[in-house]
Amino acid sequence: MLKVLTIIVALIAIASYGFISYLQQTPELPKIDYDRWWGNGPKVAEDTAVRPFKIEFNDTMIADLKSRLKNRRPLTKPLEGIKSEYGINTIYLEKVLNYWVEKYDFKERANNLNQLPRYKTRIQGLDIHFIRMKPKVQGVKTLPLLMLHGWPSSSKEFQKVIPLLTTPRTGHDFVFEVIAADLPGYGFSEGTNKPGLSALHIGVIMRNLMRRLGYNQFYIQAGDWGSNVATHMVTVFPDEILGFHTNMPMSARPYSYLKLFLGSFVPTFVVDPKHAHRIYPLSNYISYILRESGYFHIQATKPDTIGVGLTDSPAGMAAYVMEKIGVCTNRDQTNTDHGGLAGLELEDVLDTLTIIWNNNCIVTSSRLYAEGFSKETKIIDNIPTKVPTAAVNFRYEVVYHPDWMLRDKFHNLVHSTIHDFGGHFAGLQTPKELADDIFLGMTAILEFHKKET
Ligand SMILES: *[C@@H]1O[C@H](CO)[C@@H](O)[C@H](O)[C@H]1NC(C)=O
Repeated sequence: MLKVLTIIVALIAIASYGFISYLQQTPELPKIDYDRWWGNGPKVAEDTAVRPFKIEFNDTMIADLKSRLKNRRPLTKPLEGIKSEYGINTIYLEKVLNYWVEKYDFKERANNLNQLPRYKTRIQGLDIHFIRMKPKVQGVKTLPLLMLHGWPSSSKEFQKVIPLLTTPRTGHDFVFEVIAADLPGYGFSEGTNKPGLSALHIGVIMRNLMRRLGYNQFYIQAGDWGSNVATHMVTVFPDEILGFHTNMPMSARPYSYLKLFLGSFVPTFVVDPKHAHRIYPLSNYISYILRESGYFHIQATKPDTIGVGLTDSPAGMAAYVMEKIGVCTNRDQTNTDHGGLAGLELEDVLDTLTIIWNNNCIVTSSRLYAEGFSKETKIIDNIPTKVPTAAVNFRYEVVYHPDWMLRDKFHNLVHSTIHDFGGHFAGLQTPKELADDIFLGMTAILEFHKKET
């Protein structure tokens, strides 16, 4: 009997060892075309100029938007006693829509956005828009920093952070030159009409943008899809990206998910007990993800269908986008009428809505969910990177991966902060704390390079 038991235990041990070794294997980097054409029709020679750009909300657009907002049909009232549990609270929404029509000053907001120097340039067939802000003081070591946002955002998300990064601070012997780009199909960047523009290929475009601007080596700060794009960039271009700061750190390696799963039996094995509630019990976490990820499934499968209503109705688009912004800001506030939106300034939310409406980019931006999970990106997800990486975890970030999981992907995780406040749109909600952490993370990254040489 004992003999049989011993054999069974031995077999299980060997199988587990084999399985774990299998999961720890690193696949080969797939072949990638670094010059793939995403423009209309076949490839043509392009103008490589970098052109200054100013945002304009013109009278035709404003009049049309206001007329649609005013002529909407009456909104259906929430059920008795319900706040935001069934989705956006339409009484709250109505107040915001009225504000958009009556108080939001389109021209003043455009001027405000234009305080940051903006440009466009053509990369691989698409017109890419970006903010480029040089430091206010010369003579301090300047680090080129590419900043990347996610959905349903744009470089607007970094408006308050950028001046904090381009201003030198005592105790730091460096400052940043910031290049904050709109992802293709987002904000003022052109979308593609070709299938396949995944986060990986967006990463190639962003790398080519930085080369166009004269940077063969640079740093990245990113969140949400931007962080996914950047995670591919540090994997594919480890010698070009000198450091990565992320406010949505994730390891999508299967081995990391095994850890996450094992942690549901012994959480302390995976995560500091203080922060265990962010992911365990796993059943709570999964039910939260299911509750809030319907939009994700729709956009990953039928973005063009949902996109028709969102393109035609600014009230519908606002409801759809604001509900997600609220939940990602504070998912524990579905029992309020604002559903988490009170964590942000209304003007910032309306800037985001106006930018989406003006550029008609709700469909082109939503399609990233359908392109995001190609076979190629899954292979790259499973390749670790040596690029020094710094992570900050705000309280209500959509996902939380403890450092032990992150290290599977980021072998040189040199800095990690956990905040018990803040949410997904850190640049809008906690710009100062985000900027503080970027300076700290970058200090650790520079230290890492010093030790390497
Ligand atoms: C006004 O802006 C919209 C949206 O950007 C654009 O499609 C339209 O061509 C512009 N109209 C004029 C008259 O400039």
